[in-house]
Amino acid sequence: MLDQIEQIESAALSELAAAGDAAALDAWKQVYLGGNGQLKGLMAGLKSVPPAEKPAVGARLNAARAALDAAFEERRGSMGTATKVVERIDVTEPGLVNSSVVGRGHVVTRVRDELVEVFARMGFEVAEGPELEDDSHNFIKLNIPADHPARDPLDNYYVDEPGIAGRSPRMMRSQTSTVQVRMLEAAVARGGGRLMEPIKVVAPGRVYRPDEVDATHSFMFHQIEGLCVDRRVTMVDLKSTLLHFARAYFGPDAQVRLRPSFFPFTEPSAEFDMKIRLRPDQPIRWMELGGCGMIDPAVFEACGVDSEEWTGFAFGFGIERLAMGKYAIPDIRLLFENDVRFLARL
Ligand code: DAH
Repeated sequence: MLDQIEQIESAALSELAAAGDAAALDAWKQVYLGGNGQLKGLMAGLKSVPPAEKPAVGARLNAARAALDAAFEERRGSMGTATKVVERIDVTEPGLVNSSVVGRGHVVTRVRDELVEVFARMGFEVAEGPELEDDSHNFIKLNIPADHPARDPLDNYYVDEPGIAGRSPRMMRSQTSTVQVRMLEAAVARGGGRLMEPIKVVAPGRVYRPDEVDATHSFMFHQIEGLCVDRRVTMVDLKSTLLHFARAYFGPDAQVRLRPSFFPFTEPSAEFDMKIRLRPDQPIRWMELGGCGMIDPAVFEACGVDSEEWTGFAFGFGIERLAMGKYAIPDIRLLFENDVRFLARL
C-alpha cells in the first residue's frame, strides 16, 4: 500500500508539471484530488489495511494529499501569473471622469494677492483695518469737512444716527483710506506720542457705498490703499512707485500718467492712468486706475504726526477695476454673481 501511494504521488507530480494550461490542470485535479479520484480510492483501501499498519499508512496518505494540494496550488499560481494579463494602475494618470473638480481662489482674491505680492517686493508691508468704521476715520481725520458731498448720509451706509453723544457715528467704510489714519495713529502711539519710524504699507479690503448697481458700480467692492511716509518722500517717489507697479503687474509696455485732480486728504492730488494694450486684439488705451497724491499736512496733524519732519504719499485703486482691466471682464456684476461657468474661465 505504501508503494502504491508512492507511485501515485510521483505520477501525479510529474503529470502536474506537464499540464500546460488551465484545462489540463482541471482535468488533473479531477483525476487525483476529485471525489472519485485516485487519492479517494486509496483512502477507501485503508479499511483493508491491517490495524498495526493503519497509522503509518494513514499518515502517508495524509502527507501525499497535502503534497498534491500544495503542488496544485503552486502550479495554478504560476500559471495564473504567466497567462493572465496583469492589470496595472497608474495612480498618476488623470481620471477618466473628472468627478472632483478642484476649486481655486476667486479672481478678486487672486488679483488682491497678486497686487499685495507686487507691492511686497517693493518693500510694502500689508495692513488691515475694520470694515465697520466711524465717521472720524472715514472722513474727519482725512480732512473731509462736514459739508463735503461725500459725507451725504444718502451716499454712505451709516450704522448710527449722526450726532450720537460722545461717539463718532459708526458706518461701513466707504474707502480704504481709513487705514492710512489707523496706521498713522498706531505708529504715533508706538512712538509714545510721536512718529518715530517710516511707514510703508498697503491695505487691501472691502468698501461699501449705496450706489445703484450697474456694469461698473456695486454697493460693495474692494480697494487697495498704499501709504508711504518717510523723512524726504516726494512726488517723484510716488510716480516711480506707480510706474514700477504698473510694469510689474501689467507688463513692461505699461506707461503711466498722473492727471491733476483733487482729494481732501492729498495735496497735490492726481488721478493715476495707465496706457496699455491689454489684449492683442484691442487697441492701446488709457485706463484709469485710481487716485493718489502727497499726504495733506492736515491729515498728518489730525493723527499727531509732525508734518515739518515727515512727508508721504498715498494711493488707492479699485481691485475689481484692475481685475476687469487685466482679464478683460466687461461687467463688474460678473465678479459677484459667482457663476462657476464664468469663474472657471479665468
Ligand atoms: N479714497 C479715494 C476713493 O475712494 C481714492 C484715493 C485717492 C486714495 C487719493 C488715496 C489717494 O490714497 O491719495 O475715491
